[in-house]
Amino acid sequence: MKSKNKEESDFNFFSIHMDFVKTEIISLYDIYINSSIIPGRERFVRIYPKGEYLKKSTLRELQSKYFQLYLSEDQRTDYLKSLVGNREVTDEEKSKVIKDSAIKYLSTLFNNKHEFKTELLSETIRNCRDVVESIVDVIKDYSINDLYELVGKLSFHDFYTYDHSINVAMYCIAIYRVLYKDAPKETIVSLGLGGLLHDLGKLKLSTSILNNPGKLTKEEFDEIKKHPGFGLQMLLEVKESWKSGKIERCEGVDIDLTAKIIHEHHENFDGTGYPRQTVGNEISIEARITAIADFFDAITTKRAYHEILSIEQAVDVMSRSVGKKIDPQVFKVFLSNLKKISLSARTKFKIADDFDPSSPHEKLPLEEVQEEKKVENFGKIIFKDDSNSD
Ligand SMILES: [Fe+2]
Ligand SMILES: [Fe+2]
Repeated sequence: MKSKNKEESDFNFFSIHMDFVKTEIISLYDIYINSSIIPGRERFVRIYPKGEYLKKSTLRELQSKYFQLYLSEDQRTDYLKSLVGNREVTDEEKSKVIKDSAIKYLSTLFNNKHEFKTELLSETIRNCRDVVESIVDVIKDYSINDLYELVGKLSFHDFYTYDHSINVAMYCIAIYRVLYKDAPKETIVSLGLGGLLHDLGKLKLSTSILNNPGKLTKEEFDEIKKHPGFGLQMLLEVKESWKSGKIERCEGVDIDLTAKIIHEHHENFDGTGYPRQTVGNEISIEARITAIADFFDAITTKRAYHEILSIEQAVDVMSRSVGKKIDPQVFKVFLSNLKKISLSARTKFKIADDFDPSSPHEKLPLEEVQEEKKVENFGKIIFKDDSNSD
């Protein structure tokens, strides 16, 4: 481990919940306390070493002596791994910790937008890979409904973007697994990374455009349309640095797959999307999945501005974009993974054609449907758990 000066090391520790420390195993990480009582002048001292058997009684003893335990940032991945495998911790609690880690990594990247560096993006990819691996393990057998419930239980921050990105990653993983049951972990992780980083290119856009919840001017929208291309470019720079050996390669990530998702997540099935107006199956399957995950989360998850739809209303609104914004086959797969839902009270709404699932909206841009258009298979009551894996 490189030597750190005092200031650096202060930022390199994070507090942990004592109940989440796994005992009666060989500890995967060092445990620290803060020996200073002066706020802002923390001094972290190791009180338990990695690699030693940690008894429950020892932890209790530490618990009675010290107010708070800390871990070193460079062992966060080990902590996540141990947490995911801890049967005494609920999925909701695990997900909260994983989500906090993702927010930490994403905010470090996005908050440094003025001095964006390929090294930082590469580091973020490495950290986010660990986060996605943990997500993949926690939501192993989750259906869309299970995920929807889990997402609803997780606390919400002011940073909608990060919440949304994490949710999109989770929905992508769940949908992909219905389609490809035995997909290799590297593929699933790279897909989840694509979900997590789908709006990476927005780093290059001005904050005033990004935070505008109102109707955008044509010029502003043209600016927004550049973000998939920017994101692709940024990932290609990382790939190049890995190739040339300038930056150490991150194993277990198919960066081309992640880049493809970032580049194509705004392409519409009917070819009206951006940046390339790609049509139908020419859009990668991973990006078509991401588009559905992105759409679904944007209309069902609470955010600062607008109201949200119930799962039934969301499916109904989405069904009106089938064949236009979204792929009919993938949507069918998505529905096949939903438990039986009643669509008896159909809404009369569809989403506006220029709806961007990642932008803030004062109000969801729902438009009343004049004429009820018959869409195959989207009748009154649909779908149960008979999954469709073709
Ligand atoms: Fe986007
Ligand atoms: Fe999004």
